[in-house]
Amino acid sequence: MLPETATTKTEPEFSLSNSEIKDEDLPEFRDMQFEKINQLDLDHPGASDEDYRARRDRIAGLAKNFRETHVITDVEYTAEEQKVWQIVATRLEEIQAKRASEFYLDAKKKLGISTNRIPQLSEMNKRLKELSNFRLAPIEGLVETRAFLSWLSYRTMLCTQYIRHPSRPEYTPEPDIVHEAIGHIPNFTNRDFADFSQFIGHGARIATDQQLEELGRLYWFTVEYGLVEEAGEIKAFGAGLLSSFGELENAFTDNVERRPFDLEQVINTPYEYSDMQPILYVIPSYAYLKETTRKYIESFSKK
Ligand SMILES: [Fe+2]
Repeated sequence: MLPETATTKTEPEFSLSNSEIKDEDLPEFRDMQFEKINQLDLDHPGASDEDYRARRDRIAGLAKNFRETHVITDVEYTAEEQKVWQIVATRLEEIQAKRASEFYLDAKKKLGISTNRIPQLSEMNKRLKELSNFRLAPIEGLVETRAFLSWLSYRTMLCTQYIRHPSRPEYTPEPDIVHEAIGHIPNFTNRDFADFSQFIGHGARIATDQQLEELGRLYWFTVEYGLVEEAGEIKAFGAGLLSSFGELENAFTDNVERRPFDLEQVINTPYEYSDMQPILYVIPSYAYLKETTRKYIESFSKK
């Protein structure tokens, strides 16, 4: 997610109870506003690697096909790209065995996400639809906040398909297939989490700019950096934790204050995008998160 800079068409009518989205219900992508989609930040390890940039742009280009055909194009990943995946996925799996939510670990297996090869969005999309009626759609890169979150109201997550630069397998300044497939996608197999995500999407479509900022914090402290209590233990489920060796290890040290989840506090707590997170919040369950978020989003339309 990027900080908001542009507004998209807001659609005030929505139903929080409509989880029966079909492919035909998806809006046209042409309304989406992209932000510097093919520009890499200066601190990107691939910024001065011409071959990498060309390859990244070629894979990003497949997302444009999707907008015309609604079919996800598989990527023929190179041996070097597969190697990057194997290195990162193997190391993350070791740390996750102790630190990740049991639900998440099981979901990874259900989706066929392994350390051997980069999973295709098309495969994971098919399985997710069966498990929780959630969808994936390829995207070129970062999208501004309101547009990105709004797609969740269609039970759809926009996902990148390219992979980080091989010089630094542990790091990426932008979402990549590691962050999407190892961080985000397994959580959507949980119906409560999928519904919660959809509520965030509904919220983004009707939020004032102030509410959108608060919603961004809720997303940050749950979807990206959330912890959950499971059988008396604290485990990670946030994508930013599960897809980063450094963050996942740091989350369980004394460097981090782990607080019980409190919605009011979360939506009023600013965060730094690029620093290690000093405060994390622990939800009691996905069901709790879903119901708390439902009430919160319902309050948007009453103000
Ligand atoms: Fe993310």
